[in-house]
Amino acid sequence: MAQMNADPGGWRACDGAQRPDPQPAAEAPTMSIPRHLAVIMDGNGRWATSRGKPRSAGHTAGVEAVRPLVTRCRELGVEAVSLYSFSTENWAREKEEVHHLMRLCVAYLASELPLFQANGIRLRRLGAREGLPAEVLDAFAEVEEATAANDAMTLCLAINYGSRAEIVAAARTLARRAVAGGLDPAAIDEAAFSAELTTAGLPDPDLLIRTAGEMRLSNFLLWQLSYAELYVTDTLWPDFDNAALAAAFASFHGRVRRFGGVPEVPTPST
Ligand code: IPE
Ligand code: IPE
Ligand code: MG
Repeated sequence: MAQMNADPGGWRACDGAQRPDPQPAAEAPTMSIPRHLAVIMDGNGRWATSRGKPRSAGHTAGVEAVRPLVTRCRELGVEAVSLYSFSTENWAREKEEVHHLMRLCVAYLASELPLFQANGIRLRRLGAREGLPAEVLDAFAEVEEATAANDAMTLCLAINYGSRAEIVAAARTLARRAVAGGLDPAAIDEAAFSAELTTAGLPDPDLLIRTAGEMRLSNFLLWQLSYAELYVTDTLWPDFDNAALAAAFASFHGRVRRFGGVPEVPTPST
């Protein structure tokens, strides 16, 4: 868990000019920042409906909420951000809504490439290729390739993603290798299994934020979220701003993570 200055933006002088934080780093207030943040960006439809707008307007507004989150996470030193953009179950929606979401994804990737490059952000697609339109795959391939050498933060977009399908695919890959004789089943451990998931190489998320109030995982990163802290807010995704992110991180900072053990308590001095 990274320890970061609570406000890496530093101190703002009364003349409005940015100044470096006047406190020595060792004395600056610190807070725990997740290494890997996962977000279920839910509530676009409700956001639109409550305004008498079509659901597509909610998705368009939802895309606008992604940039500040990505930028802030990068500033704070988060290593990876995984955003649930479209689940394997979301194909069940009206064709027009699905088309709109796919078009938004292509437009988002094209518009954000300069931001990724300027901030050293590497893009990664999570989810199955099968079923995605060629334009979406091409847009991902282009941005993944262009950002491949960036190493300040990894941004994972989960699209056509289903965690059960991901787990089954990993099991199938390992089984094929074992049957072909290249893998001893006894060598299949948690690390070997993790290495076959689309998140291979990333730390497991230590914080999951879900917007719009539902208390469920909806088939997102079931394996990887085993020990993540869960944070559910009623805020709808298009309204999720940097203040909402700060509240989530403050909650994360206050969590006692035991991982099945016993929390450390100060030893009595008597
Ligand atoms: C999340 O918002 C975006 C996707 C699932 C693609 P929703 O579209 O699920 O919004 P609600 O849950 O209907 O409000
Ligand atoms: C989860 O939201 C998927 C995404 C945010 C992409 P849903 O709206 O699809 O989840 P359910 O149907 O409420 O479980
Ligand atoms: Mg929803």
